[in-house]
Amino acid sequence: MKILNAVLGATALAALSLFSASANAQGYPERQITMIVPFAAGGPTDTVTRLVAESMSKDLGQQIIVENVGGAGGTLGAARVANAEADGYTLLLHHIGMATSATLYRKLPYDTLNAFEYVGLVTDVPMTLLARKDMEATDLKGLIEYAKANQDKVTVANAGIGAASHLCGMLFMSAIETSLVTVPYKGTGPAMTDLLGGQVDIMCDQTTNTTKQIQAGTVKAYAVTSPERLDVLKDLPTVREAGLPQMEVGIWHGIYAPKGTPKEAVDKLSKALQVALKDPNVAARFAELGTKPSPEADATPEALKAKLEGEIARWKPVIEAAGQYAD
Ligand code: MLT
Repeated sequence: MKILNAVLGATALAALSLFSASANAQGYPERQITMIVPFAAGGPTDTVTRLVAESMSKDLGQQIIVENVGGAGGTLGAARVANAEADGYTLLLHHIGMATSATLYRKLPYDTLNAFEYVGLVTDVPMTLLARKDMEATDLKGLIEYAKANQDKVTVANAGIGAASHLCGMLFMSAIETSLVTVPYKGTGPAMTDLLGGQVDIMCDQTTNTTKQIQAGTVKAYAVTSPERLDVLKDLPTVREAGLPQMEVGIWHGIYAPKGTPKEAVDKLSKALQVALKDPNVAARFAELGTKPSPEADATPEALKAKLEGEIARWKPVIEAAGQYAD
C-alpha cells in the first residue's frame, strides 16, 4: 500500500510539473530572452545573431538580448545553454562548429545530439581566405608557394578548435599538405583586428565579417568557399576556380534551446524565426554581407536536427583523417 501511494504520488508530481511547464509555456514569452553567441562580440556569429534576434523580438513581443560566451571554439557557450533552465528563456545561436566539435572534442561537457531542442536553420555563410594587406602573393597559387616556403613562421588566425575559421584553416592546410602555425582567439572579431594590424598572416573567415574589409582593400583576399562567385565580391574567385575545390564549405547556422524546453515555446520561437528570415531588413543586411536567409522550410526543428546529424557524419572522417583533436 505504501509503495502504491509513493508511485501514485510521484506520477502525480511528474504530471503536475509537465502540466505547469506547458501551462507556463502557454503565455510564453513573459519576459526577456537571452541568446548566447559562443564567440566574441563584433564577429560574424555575433553580427548574424544580433540581426535575427532584433527581428524575432518584434514577433515575440519580448526583447532578446545577446550575450557573448566565447572560448574553446564555441563549446563553452554551447555548454552554457545545454545546462541552462529548459524554460525557453536561454537560447543558443551556433554554426557548423556544433557538428565539428562533436568529433574534435572527445570529452565534450554535453551530448551534442541529446542536450538540445532544435528551433531552426538561420543562414549558410560562405568563407573567404584572406591575408594581411602587405602579403606579396597576388593569387592563391602565390599564397600557397609563400606558405610552403615559410611554413614554420606563417601564422593562421582562428577562433579556437571547433570554430569555422579553424575548420577552414584545417581544410587549407590539408589541401596544401603543409601545417602552419595557428593562433587561437575567442572569435574572428578580435582576430580580424590583428590581421588588419599585420600581427597575423592568414585567416579564413565568414563573409559576414570580411566583405566590408575586402571591399575596402584593407586585407588581401584570395578565394571564396561557395560554389558560385558572390554578387558583393564579384572579382573574388571560388576555391574551385582557384584550384582547391576541397575547401568548398558553407557555414550553416542554427538556433537551439536546452533539452526539455516546452514544445509550445519551441514552436513560437521557430515561427518567430521564420518571420525574421522574411524580414526585408534582415534579407538586405545579409545580402550586403554575402549571405542570405535560410528558406522557410529549413527554419524548422526537423530541418536543423537533420542538418546537424548529417554534418556530424560528414566531418567525422575528415577530422579523423587530419588527426586534429582538441583534447
Ligand atoms: C565568430 O563569430 O567569431 C566566428 O564564428 C568564429 C569562427 O567560427 O570562426
